[in-house]
Amino acid sequence: MINVSELQKSYGDLQAVKGVSFRAKAGTIFGLLGPNGAGKSTTINCISGLIKPTAGNIKVNGFDIISEATKAKQSLGVVPQELAIYEDLSALDNLRYWGAAYGLGGKALERRVNHVLENIGLMDRARDLPKNYSGGMKRRLNFGCGLVHEPKVLLLDEPTVGVDVQSRGRLFDLIKEERDKGTCVLYTTHYMEEAENLCDELAIIDHGKIIAAGTLQDLRAQVGENDIIQLSGVFNAKKLKAAIAKLKPTPEILSLSDESLALAMKEAARHLPAVLKAVSATGAEIRESRLTEPNLESLFLKLTGTELRA
Ligand SMILES: Nc1ncnc2c1ncn2[C@@H]1O[C@H](COP(=O)(O)OP(=O)(O)OP(=O)(O)O)[C@@H](O)[C@H]1O
Ligand SMILES: [Mg+2]
Repeated sequence: MINVSELQKSYGDLQAVKGVSFRAKAGTIFGLLGPNGAGKSTTINCISGLIKPTAGNIKVNGFDIISEATKAKQSLGVVPQELAIYEDLSALDNLRYWGAAYGLGGKALERRVNHVLENIGLMDRARDLPKNYSGGMKRRLNFGCGLVHEPKVLLLDEPTVGVDVQSRGRLFDLIKEERDKGTCVLYTTHYMEEAENLCDELAIIDHGKIIAAGTLQDLRAQVGENDIIQLSGVFNAKKLKAAIAKLKPTPEILSLSDESLALAMKEAARHLPAVLKAVSATGAEIRESRLTEPNLESLFLKLTGTELRA
């Protein structure tokens, strides 16, 4: 349903997206996971036709987003990172407006609007104006407006940022419901847990490039059995490197500086005392230590040497 091929986008000298390709199928939630500035919004805005790619091709439901824009856009529902709601229309009228704009009407429109209102948790505030809403409530309405018309392809750009945990769960239910009806959902996030819990397929994006892609299982297999040990404090990188090389088993150094150290090794919990002892023996001051079992976070660290949450 979404076919992105060698997408590139530059803003002046800045290359925000550097040759991104992926396909997302009907009935799946495809996640685009990456840190701030990775190029997620740029990619999604090219797919929605909001901005024009510098190079590459994008098809939505078989139609080219540039040369067959009208047909391509008929399949789309978009929840942008920036709010796109009418502040002077009630939630009810915002949803009615977006539903009607895509051809829903009569009882079908009212049924759908009510269902969405229920799921975004705004039923009791349906007749209030969004300007009197909290930030999270506006986000939830923004979300509802993007999918009220039951699009075949749904683009969601970090829709849960600023939304509380309880409401988030209901938004996830609505996304899964759309997926189960056959909608192709593209979901960007920088929350590893969201990606793990929600997405059927994933691409990890960093500095405008996809650095890993596949199902969660594929990606977990790439991490292998190694746990990750992360230490922060005051270090002497040179001494530390020598000390770690002497450890048996020898951990793999993922990143090392005078402030932080990341290591990968099997059964890290068992070896942690020996690692801490060796690090301390170099005169280092350890302020924090963290042990992570294999997950998307550790895959990101392994591939880039930096933390996803940085
Ligand atoms: N309109 C613009 N003009 C110039 N540079 C831009 C513009 N939009 C984005 N960029 C730059 O492109 C890069 C990618 O930004 P983008 O918004 O796609 O990242 P993102 O992955 O969505 O990040 P976030 O998680 O913060 O939303 C960044 O370096 C950003 O500064
Ligand atoms: Mg963004």
